Amino acid sequence: MEDRPLDLMIPGPVPVSPDVLEAMGQPVRQHYGPEWQPFYEQFVARLRRIFNTTGSVYPIPSSGSGGLEAMLGTLIGADGTVGVITNGFFGNRLLDIARAHTPHVEVFQIPYERPAGPDEVRAWLRARRVRVLAVVHSDTSTGVLNPVADIAAAARSEGAALAVDAVSSLAGAPVLTDGWGLAAVATASQKCLESPPGVAPVAVTSLGWEIIDGQPAPSRGWYLNLRNWRRYEREWPHHPYPVTIPSNNIVALNRALERILDEGLEARFERHRQAAELLRGGLERLGFTLFADRRWASPTVTVAYPPDGIKAAALMERLRVQHRIAVAGGLDHLAGQVIRIGHLGNQATTERIRRTLGAVEACLREGSAAGSPGRGATRTAAPRPAAPGRTRRSRRPARRT
Ligand SMILES: Cc1ncc(COP(=O)(O)O)c(C=O)c1O
Repeated sequence: MEDRPLDLMIPGPVPVSPDVLEAMGQPVRQHYGPEWQPFYEQFVARLRRIFNTTGSVYPIPSSGSGGLEAMLGTLIGADGTVGVITNGFFGNRLLDIARAHTPHVEVFQIPYERPAGPDEVRAWLRARRVRVLAVVHSDTSTGVLNPVADIAAAARSEGAALAVDAVSSLAGAPVLTDGWGLAAVATASQKCLESPPGVAPVAVTSLGWEIIDGQPAPSRGWYLNLRNWRRYEREWPHHPYPVTIPSNNIVALNRALERILDEGLEARFERHRQAAELLRGGLERLGFTLFADRRWASPTVTVAYPPDGIKAAALMERLRVQHRIAVAGGLDHLAGQVIRIGHLGNQATTERIRRTLGAVEACLREGSAAGSPGRGATRTAAPRPAAPGRTRRSRRPARRT
């Protein structure tokens, strides 16, 4: 392995601050009892502030998908009915999770290039009996941000409540769990929460519990069943969770939450917006085509087609080998076509974005050595045959409805 560490500009996990790593490396603590309890209460209070909720918050020991499964599985119940909006790889992940819990899944497929609109969601729901609707806030595969506040209002008007995957948005973009009338929100420690992977915090509001408690048949799971987490919270105040929680990860995440609240949520959102804009402007100047229109582009991740003649895989390889910067490739049908750059949490700084842009520019200049012609090289290399009428825009995949 290379000596120089990779600078992670992938859309999670993100680099974490030295004090968070130091917190992670402290001696293992007893994860319950009188010394841990006040610490844990403070930790949950911090998470509540970041989720903007007075509801329940559980730090599920898992990657983000475990939190999503806990949220969705518990809200669906055994064989309940659920609607899933999908416009990306992670929307499809929600769909897979939903289908693992019930055969009664209604799917609203939206083209990957755009967000779901509240009016179409309202019309779609009107024709169905769906009490729980799931959506991804920022789909990390496309960089498209769904307008969760408006979708939640549309859903409410049709008697449905929203469960939100905020894995790549919470603490990077506004999420008002109570204020938007959401049923539940799930996230993960390794994205905008700026902590190592391993914890998936899930918030459930009183509306969420109303749905869960009104189910004809509760969810069948145990570990990821939030009813079980609530039972321990109520019945075991000295150990308010059913399992051994990963105390080192929790201590690290707590330190990261403290940093986040010290910075202030509004200041963070602005930092993410500025970083996103700096990156997008820079990529466009270098000849990239942005996948998501700026009107709905996520402030935490950017997906872009490289300039003509540049292969995404070769560019990523060169960034990694020559510049020690990791960016991610495309998912689903975008595999091999795009690169994905994270500007989540610690990544969203002027310095990191400029460094990344500088490295990308250098790769384009030097490109031919990586097996893909750089800008200078494209002028002399034989051009790839272009499809008739091919424009940058037409490189975008066809709409999938
Ligand atoms: C929006 C979104 N949802 C879900 C996930 C899955 O999270 P994990 O890989 O931590 O299970 C990710 C991971 O990148 C994500 O970005």
